[in-house]
Amino acid sequence: MSETGATPRVYARIAGTGSYLPANVVTNDDLSKVVDTSDEWIASRTGIRQRHVAAEGETTGDLAYHASVRALEAAGVEASELDLIVLGTTTPDLVFPSTACLLQHRLGANGCGAFDVNAACSGFVYALSVADKFIRTGAARTVLVVGAETLTRMVDWSDRATCVLFGDGAGAVVLKADTETGILSTHLHADGGKKELLWNPVGVSVGFKEQEKNAGVRIHMTGNEVFKHAVKALDSVVEETLAENGLDRRAIDWLIPHQANLRIIEATAKRLDLPMDRVVVTVDRHGNTSSGSVPLALDEAVRSGRVERGQLLLLEAFGGGFTWGSALLRY
Ligand code: UT7
Repeated sequence: MSETGATPRVYARIAGTGSYLPANVVTNDDLSKVVDTSDEWIASRTGIRQRHVAAEGETTGDLAYHASVRALEAAGVEASELDLIVLGTTTPDLVFPSTACLLQHRLGANGCGAFDVNAACSGFVYALSVADKFIRTGAARTVLVVGAETLTRMVDWSDRATCVLFGDGAGAVVLKADTETGILSTHLHADGGKKELLWNPVGVSVGFKEQEKNAGVRIHMTGNEVFKHAVKALDSVVEETLAENGLDRRAIDWLIPHQANLRIIEATAKRLDLPMDRVVVTVDRHGNTSSGSVPLALDEAVRSGRVERGQLLLLEAFGGGFTWGSALLRY
């Protein structure tokens, strides 16, 4: 109870962050030996210089595990204390059990709730929003939220329009119930009407065609159309976030965006009037790691000392579905 006798408001607060990247690095020059592209084209159109690619046998669950161990350590939380694990991924290890269940067992957190969220590149922001609701309602006190992907597993390495964009990686945060301000608001959106602009049309229930069994699953993207939709949707969701919290754009200390394309990130920063030195950029070294990208960027900024306790962070993402969303939080 507070001094006034009212029950204090409960926030979901980040207690610790962690991330993990596979060891194998593939540079733009490496790719230019495989497809008709160049470091100059990739860097100028996307900002990407290199990406990490999971080794054979290294799975989304492996990346998620290493990121989670680091986040738990940073938070000073034992796996057995977790009430819930929510994991954003579009590249699960298996159809089922969920990667969250596989992770839970490996961490030794058996018994708590665990499930995956598939919102493509917005997966971490979606997962964070779900976890926030569990904590705010009192249904959970300690939650592990993960974004983990091995997107390169479904990249067509002969398609220069997509293979240069993606990388593998994972990030995680431990959220704890706290009376100190943490997550202030989250905002989720989707438009299933644009699915063919960015999709992987292979699936279980639609049935596998013979050629797909041979060619494997692969990402299809109409890049320039996705680009326009992403800029517009992100503009709108950051405006919505500021308005809901009655904030001026100058209040934001750090923008921690989804890392798909430096030009998209710069457009959002411009909308917020934020200089690029207050934007966390990892796309140059990580490429687009889908739902791994926001928590990877967050962890990097926290561990480098740039993001400090008490600062106001705006997280945002856009991806296949389309899905998009944001989270405003005090770190
Ligand atoms: O994370 C989920 C959300 N995803 C995104 O947000 C991605 C959004 N889209 C993008 O980031 C950009 O649209 C791309 C980076 C994918 C492409 O950049 P762009 O400036 O939109 O290029 P474009 O697709 O309009 O293609 C321009 C030209 C084409 O050649 P022509 O037709 O002008 O002769 C492409 O064939 O660039 C060519 N091209 C390439 N050239 C060298 C496409 N990929 C490559 C490449 N190397 N890798």
